[in-house]
Amino acid sequence: MPALRAVAPGSDPASPLSILMVASEAVPYAKTGGLADVVGALPGALARLGHHVTLVMPRYRDVGPVGTARHHLDLDLGGRRFKVGLVEVDVAERYRVVFLDCDALYDREGVYGHAGTDHSDNAVRYGVLCRAACEYGRQLEVPPSVVHAHDWQAALVPVLLRTRYATDPAWRGVPVVLTIHNLAYQGLFPPDTMRALDLPPSLFSIEGIEYWNQVSFLKGGINFADAITTVSQTYARQILTPAHGEGFDGILTQRRDRLSGIVNGIDSAVWDPDIDPWLPAPYSAADVGPKREVKRAVLDRFGLPSDDVALTRPVVGMVSRMVDQKGLDLIFEARTELMALPVSWVILGTGDPRYEAMWRALALAHPERVGTRIGFDEPLAHLIEGGSDLFLMPSRFEPCGLNQMYSMRYGTVPVVRATGGLADTVRDVQSTTGPGTGFVFEGYTASAMLAALHAALATFDDRPRWAAIQHAGMTQDFSWTASAAAYVQEYRNAIERRQRVGAGRGE
Ligand code: ADP
Ligand code: GLC
Repeated sequence: MPALRAVAPGSDPASPLSILMVASEAVPYAKTGGLADVVGALPGALARLGHHVTLVMPRYRDVGPVGTARHHLDLDLGGRRFKVGLVEVDVAERYRVVFLDCDALYDREGVYGHAGTDHSDNAVRYGVLCRAACEYGRQLEVPPSVVHAHDWQAALVPVLLRTRYATDPAWRGVPVVLTIHNLAYQGLFPPDTMRALDLPPSLFSIEGIEYWNQVSFLKGGINFADAITTVSQTYARQILTPAHGEGFDGILTQRRDRLSGIVNGIDSAVWDPDIDPWLPAPYSAADVGPKREVKRAVLDRFGLPSDDVALTRPVVGMVSRMVDQKGLDLIFEARTELMALPVSWVILGTGDPRYEAMWRALALAHPERVGTRIGFDEPLAHLIEGGSDLFLMPSRFEPCGLNQMYSMRYGTVPVVRATGGLADTVRDVQSTTGPGTGFVFEGYTASAMLAALHAALATFDDRPRWAAIQHAGMTQDFSWTASAAAYVQEYRNAIERRQRVGAGRGE
């Protein structure tokens, strides 16, 4: 087994940590949403701060050729034996990815499901991810200083470390930090999952992983993690309330001393209009002029008119999972008024068939002004960010949200609802004294969204003011550096806390 660098965990605030990260998706290997962007970028940022990161994730079919397994784990679960290959890839200095190679579980179409249906064995697929990460970590010559698990798919790691591996010397003193990227996805499975994953029946309780007579991976993670983070400070507060707690506000409130919010950064090597390979013309805060060429290109791409008259009309972009979380029901309600606005629309997304059908129908009804692409298309997402004037995110809730930050970086002014990370990252033009960076509305109503859009369109005609808003957004620092440092602090606090537990000074 390869050795992570030896460190005395937590003993010295400047000492490098070795972090074992566990997640279900990461750019550039597999992506269904923002989780992949975060898990793809955070390890690099931590490594640049001098820490060592090993990310354990499944090798899905679409990961492509990454090498062959040189080590194997034999995992027995629920009467089945899984032979899991470990494919180690050194991605950068101090950053290694370990892919779990197990064709029976991961070599198939779709990350979590296919054709609108979840894979029926997801509990086992992610149960194996968690077990394999625990086994891998304990066999390392030098154990990790801390484990960082992301979302429900990795949330059994804290459960396993405090139960199955509780007396394992390799894991003694090693804390687990759990990051919740979206509380709405709780990893809920039927009770017989306990047997399928060899979990002790005693864990099927309120203090364990039982939730309304189901197994919840995420609840287990919340109960057993040493520290819980979520991806913005506002969302960290919101999930303590019944309105946003998704049924977990009670247990989160009990554990609130362990809960904090760390806002996501963005990967400025991937999302920078000056070097973005998917834009036909590079531009930057110093010279936004070529953005007009990108606007022409995105209109062309969607088959919309791109003559001089069309180019003076604002383009509103959306790149989104088409689900209620993202405010698609508000858009549905306001579709007639939205179509009456003097703008062009460029829309990319997949999700609820009802909303996909709505955007298809709007494109048919307004072929000159609405372009819709149903699907997942990373290059097109970049072109929309670059070519739009406005970006709409009317989310019902938004743990952090990345597209509003990409938009600001691309001089595309976001129109967002004041919730979660949207509230924390966009400065409202209408209520700040400085130039502001976007248009923010409070109420989850069609009229509030329309009012914000009207305000944005009125401002669009005031060119110097618009340029100042664009500039303010483009020059903000959304890099990962500060957030990675905040995670390091969180890791060190968790290490200290776990050492106190080990020394018998209580939780
Ligand atoms: P969430 O993770 O809740 O979907 P985020 O804003 O955090 O929302 O991140 C979404 C990420 O997924 C962004 O990088 C966005 O560009 C990308 N994305 C969403 N839908 C699509 C799509 N249909 N095609 C390409 N990229 C998409
Ligand atoms: C989730 C959230 C999104 C967040 C992303 C990355 O998918 O819905 O708001 O930005 O995770 O943390």
